[in-house]
Amino acid sequence: MARRSPEIRCRAYHAAFRSGILHAANDRSISRCYFENNKGVFMSLVDQLKASMRLPVIGSPMFILSNPDLVIAQCMSGVIGSFPALNARPAEELPVWLEKITNTLDEARKADPEAKIAPFAVNQIVHASNDRLDHDLKACADFKVPLMITSLRAPHPAVEVAKDYGGHVFHDVISVRHAEKAIEAGVDGLIVVCAGAGGHAGTLSPFALVSEIRQFWDGPLILSGAITRGEHILAAQAMGADFAYMGTRFIASTEANAVEGYKEMVTSSSAKDVVYTNLFTGVHGNYLGGSITNAGLDPTDLPESGKDAMTFGSDREKKKAWKDIWGAGQGVGSIDSILPTAEIVDRLDNEYRAALGRL
Ligand SMILES: Cc1cc2nc3c(=O)[nH]c(=O)nc-3n(C[C@H](O)[C@H](O)[C@H](O)COP(=O)(O)O)c2cc1C
Repeated sequence: MARRSPEIRCRAYHAAFRSGILHAANDRSISRCYFENNKGVFMSLVDQLKASMRLPVIGSPMFILSNPDLVIAQCMSGVIGSFPALNARPAEELPVWLEKITNTLDEARKADPEAKIAPFAVNQIVHASNDRLDHDLKACADFKVPLMITSLRAPHPAVEVAKDYGGHVFHDVISVRHAEKAIEAGVDGLIVVCAGAGGHAGTLSPFALVSEIRQFWDGPLILSGAITRGEHILAAQAMGADFAYMGTRFIASTEANAVEGYKEMVTSSSAKDVVYTNLFTGVHGNYLGGSITNAGLDPTDLPESGKDAMTFGSDREKKKAWKDIWGAGQGVGSIDSILPTAEIVDRLDNEYRAALGRL
C-alpha cells in the first residue's frame, strides 16, 4: 500500500542507524523517527525521551483533573506529565501554566543535572467546536512545548506548528484506520487507546490493535486502557508498546484537581462499576457507575446520544448538566488509596521491577 511505504523505508533506516551504517538524517520521513540530541548524536525519539525518564510512562491528559501541580509532580517523578490545553481557563491562563511548568522543571534540572526529570506534554482537541485551537497551538509554540498530544480529528494543524518549532506530536487512535490517517498527517507517535480506558475509550483488545498497528508502524507507540500497575507497564512493553499511557491511576493522587468524593469513588470501585456510554459527550467513554446513580440516572439503562452532542469549545465547562459524572477506566479495581504522585510512581516502579524479576 503506497501510504505505508514511508514507514517501511523508515524501518530500513532504523536498521541502518542501529548498525551504525548511517549517522545523519536529512530525509523528512526519517527525521520523524530519529533526532539529533544536544550532543550532536542521532537517537530515536523513544530513546531520547526515555533518557530523562525513570519509567516508560506518560501520565495522560484528563479534562478538569490535570493541572500544573499534577504535571510537575509527574515530570519530577520521572514520568511524562500532560494536561489538556482547555483546562487552563480562560485561554489567557495557558501561557501562565506553561511558564510555571517550564520554569519549575528547568530550575530542577539545573539544580540536579543527573536527576530523571521527564518532559511534559499538552493535549489539543482537534475538533471544529474547539474555538481555542489556534490560540493554544501558538502558546505551545511560544514555549516550545516538547510534546503535543492530539485527540479526535486528524492532527494536521498541530503537526504543522510542532514541526516549525521542533516539537513532536503523538495522536490518540482507537483503530487501524485512525492510525493510518494520523501517520498520513505526519505525527511522530501513536497513542493506541484500547478497551477499558478512562474518558473516551476504544473497544478493541490491546493484543489485537497493537499487533495490527505494529505491522505498518515502527515509530513511537503508546498504549492505553486500564493500565494501573507496574506489571501492566511491563506487559505493554512486552506487547510492542514503547510507553504506557495512564490516566485513571493518577485521579486518586493528592495533586489531581478532583473533589475528594471522586477520588474516594475511584478507590472503592472495580471494573464492574465502570459504564461505557456516549450519553455525556456524544463520544463513547468510560464513567463511574456510582456517579451516574448519584446524578439520578440508571447506569444500566442509559439513552444513546448523537455525535452532534460533541462540543469542545471554551464554553464546554459551562455545560453543568453532567458536571458530577466522573470519568474513570476499568483499572480502578487496582487503586486502593489516594497518594501523592511521587508515591504512586514509587509504587509503580517497585511493581514494575518485581514483575521483571518474576519473569
Ligand atoms: C476523567 C478523564 C478525563 C479525560 N479527559 C481527556 C481529555 O481531555 N483529553 C484526552 O485526550 N484524553 C482524556 N482522557 C483520556 C486519557 O487521556 C487516557 O486516554 C485514558 O485515561 C487512559 O486510560 P486509563 O484511564 O484507563 O489509564 C480522560 C480520561 C479520564 C479518566
